[in-house]
Amino acid sequence: MINLLKRKTGSASREDLAGYARLYGFYPVHPADFVDPAHPVFFSMRMQCQELYHAISLGFMGNRAMSKTYWETRLPVIQSMYLSPLYGKELDELERPELLSYLPPFAEKNVLDLGSGIGRYTGEFAKSAKRVVSVDFAAQMVAENRRLNAALTNIEYIISDAMNLDFPQNSFDLIFTNFLFMYLEDNEVALLIDRISTWLKPNGFLFFRDSCAAVREENSNPSYFAIYRNLIEYPSFFKENWILQKEGNILAHEIVCADPFKCYWLYQNK
Ligand SMILES: C[S@@+](CC[C@H](N)C(=O)[O-])C[C@H]1O[C@@H](n2cnc3c(N)ncnc32)[C@H](O)[C@@H]1O
Repeated sequence: MINLLKRKTGSASREDLAGYARLYGFYPVHPADFVDPAHPVFFSMRMQCQELYHAISLGFMGNRAMSKTYWETRLPVIQSMYLSPLYGKELDELERPELLSYLPPFAEKNVLDLGSGIGRYTGEFAKSAKRVVSVDFAAQMVAENRRLNAALTNIEYIISDAMNLDFPQNSFDLIFTNFLFMYLEDNEVALLIDRISTWLKPNGFLFFRDSCAAVREENSNPSYFAIYRNLIEYPSFFKENWILQKEGNILAHEIVCADPFKCYWLYQNK
């Protein structure tokens, strides 16, 4: 555990870690708790350790590190793509064809799948696209994507934060993100959309889908960062070089989960 914490917090000393724990209101912690494996704290600490790390992330590393840790600790299964034990295969079966029906043709095209998770859509694209680049910052998600789509040889996998990417101009015909912008701050969404505009070929498309809300709100779980933007916020990120082609909410999600705020937009780059 001390190794885990040390790895995650760089060079923090035992004293620092114990101090952080106390600071964030965890039970009385002594530096010795972090060295003695027989100490009772060790036995009950697995969960608290995660929480402690998230608290440290929050205080010392910001939302992104917390978000990355959150995703790196999800199982690479379909339920994690919806963050719900209730919804998985059935919702996916209904929703996947619906989402694909909103996309422009991608056969023989170059496609970027950003925040691709276990690669539900990466595989769909790769069946007919020329080349697919699939990006996620959680290594276990990328590993599962690779495993599920092993038969398809036109996929390039990248483990990276979406904000750390750099592609040559005019690389893609279609850029697809299904639940990604909601994990980015407003300034990051604006910056990424500008970058996407350069990565896309002229007349290329950006499709994105996210969880929205009638009134903007941030998720209140201290270990999970997400912004549920209201419906007029996303269009305001797009400058005059973009043309809105389609928008709406995902009907499958409305039917299965009674949630009309899973929304999508299709923009074309001039
Ligand atoms: C809800 S899942 C959806 C995955 C996939 N798009 C799908 O629909 O099956 C969100 C994914 O985005 C990834 N993610 C979140 N923030 C990211 C970031 N800043 N850069 C890269 N990937 C990110 C997570 O690791 C996770 O796999």
